[in-house]
Amino acid sequence: MLYPEELIEEVRLRNDIVDVISSYLKLERKGKTYFGLCPFHSEKTPSFSVEPAKQFFYCFGCNKGGSVIQFIMDIEHLEFTDALKLLADRAGIVLPEPEDPGEREKSRRRKEILEINKKAARYFFSLLTGNQGVLARNYLKKRGLTEKTVRKFGLGVSPGGRDELTRYLMAEGADGGLLVDSGLSIRSENGTLTDRFRNRLMFPIFNIRGDIIGFGGRVLDDSLPKYMNSPETLIYNKSRELYGLNYARKSKSSKLLIVEGYMDVISLHQAGIDFAVASLGTALTQSQAWILKKYADEVIICYDSDAAGQNATVRGLEILEKVGCRTKVLLMPEGKDPDEYIRNNGPEKFKNLIDGALSLLDYKIRVKKNMYNQNTVEDRLELLNSIADILAEHDNSIERELYAQDYARQYGISLESLQDEIRKRMNKNHRSEGPRKINSPASSDLPRVDNRYGELEYMLIIMLCMENRLYSTVAKKYGIESFKDEGAKEVAKRLFAKLEHNNSCVLAELLSELSPSLSSYLTGLASKKCNVEDTEKAILHLLQKLEILYLEDLQKQTIERIKNEQDGIKRQELGLEFSKRAERIATLKKMA
Ligand code: GTP
Ligand code: MN
Repeated sequence: MLYPEELIEEVRLRNDIVDVISSYLKLERKGKTYFGLCPFHSEKTPSFSVEPAKQFFYCFGCNKGGSVIQFIMDIEHLEFTDALKLLADRAGIVLPEPEDPGEREKSRRRKEILEINKKAARYFFSLLTGNQGVLARNYLKKRGLTEKTVRKFGLGVSPGGRDELTRYLMAEGADGGLLVDSGLSIRSENGTLTDRFRNRLMFPIFNIRGDIIGFGGRVLDDSLPKYMNSPETLIYNKSRELYGLNYARKSKSSKLLIVEGYMDVISLHQAGIDFAVASLGTALTQSQAWILKKYADEVIICYDSDAAGQNATVRGLEILEKVGCRTKVLLMPEGKDPDEYIRNNGPEKFKNLIDGALSLLDYKIRVKKNMYNQNTVEDRLELLNSIADILAEHDNSIERELYAQDYARQYGISLESLQDEIRKRMNKNHRSEGPRKINSPASSDLPRVDNRYGELEYMLIIMLCMENRLYSTVAKKYGIESFKDEGAKEVAKRLFAKLEHNNSCVLAELLSELSPSLSSYLTGLASKKCNVEDTEKAILHLLQKLEILYLEDLQKQTIERIKNEQDGIKRQELGLEFSKRAERIATLKKMA
């Protein structure tokens, strides 16, 4: 393990599984359990469950399950360490340098890449301000950027030759491997290194601490591709960064404005709108949404008004709403981008647009409104039907009510008829859910479990996790040596050792140490068979069942021995042993 157990446990504890999973999918509470549509297989009725008390998830449909860390590994396709980092970030926990030599090597490499990026950025800046930079300087002037802004964002220009930067950095002592790892150089087929960025306007990409983690490079004319960006490296993962956040997080405003491009962010900051960030040419991701939530009370999306931009807006809004952000949409008039708009209309007009930003509901309805021209009765009907659809899907009943009043007035229909339509749709949505399907697990994924003892022993382990204080009772009656199922014995060893040492262990903690298939088997078992009111009673009950099983096994052996015993006296002794045990079994069965 790279990190100490306590630290992993701390990360797990500070990330409530219901909170985390809710930001990926809609969960509905039923009793002590939450249900939703499984993100790991396609389904129409929810069989994906999350149990806050046990802090794990389990899908009755595809049998995936585990702790919050497992969930992040599965949904973000991350290795354990990276999932842990993501959750640590989310909870504001700073992970120490890992103990593992491989990880330490990576961490050293990260620092080297940061250093080489800084050198490259200085070089690009010096070219921009030097003799070679006339063209680029003129370009920036034409786009209205001041020298101060250029300096603040560390803009520069990359040399035009095939390997000028590479040669410069090598002369400064960098080796080829590092240049490739940083993404600044590309190794060609014959093994020589060339510059990735040639003759482009260079935008350093800063992380939240202001380190340069990558670059975007724009052509100085109309050639294509317009932008080239650094590849993903050890330090740059574009789905987790927001351009401009290093400045925006220091803004006095508690809002953040998300725009599409580097130039938009820069123009906005220059115009005094210092809370703008960009999501670097990708659709907004979950990780970015968490970051936004951490730094802002309200997030305003300002994407292009073309079809692609509209889709990105709706998706972005949904992701942000799920993580619990207050969100709004800023509509740009005439399909302009913020940079152009500010240049033509000035900052004050843009601030008015911010003040007029729409809520998610208003936005969805506005999009529909633009689809119908409202002159004909049919068009108005279509629009009202869409409004009823949209409102019926909206969760918050107070908002639903208020919006219904508002729209009824706006479109000149009676509130009653709109509410009627909404109610009809809500009933229909509800009815179509149907009963939950519980599939049996795919047998190939299952761990081998002794079919008589195994399940009971695993249940004992699960319940002991739920009620740690019963450890001594269990250990006395059913110690490690009593376990018959080899797998269960191994797990019991771990659990008993934990309970012996720290006196506590919850199921999720244990699961995180097991193979995915075993962990998923156990979560399934826990969800299906361990939902008991009185854990203590259930444990005693299990111990009785296990004892009965064992005694019955002994009975079988005794019968065999009686059959084969020649000596009459010994046969009698065995007979006595048999009937005593039979009594004990009968008593146990009566108690059970
Ligand atoms: P200007 O045209 O200079 O105003 O740039 P812009 O920032 O407004 O760019 P645009 O709106 O065309 O694109 C928005 C963002 O998408 C850019 O800032 C880039 O991050 C990204 N992007 C645009 N074009 C490309 C491209 O050709 N390749 C890649 N990889 N990304 C691009
Ligand atoms: Mn632009």
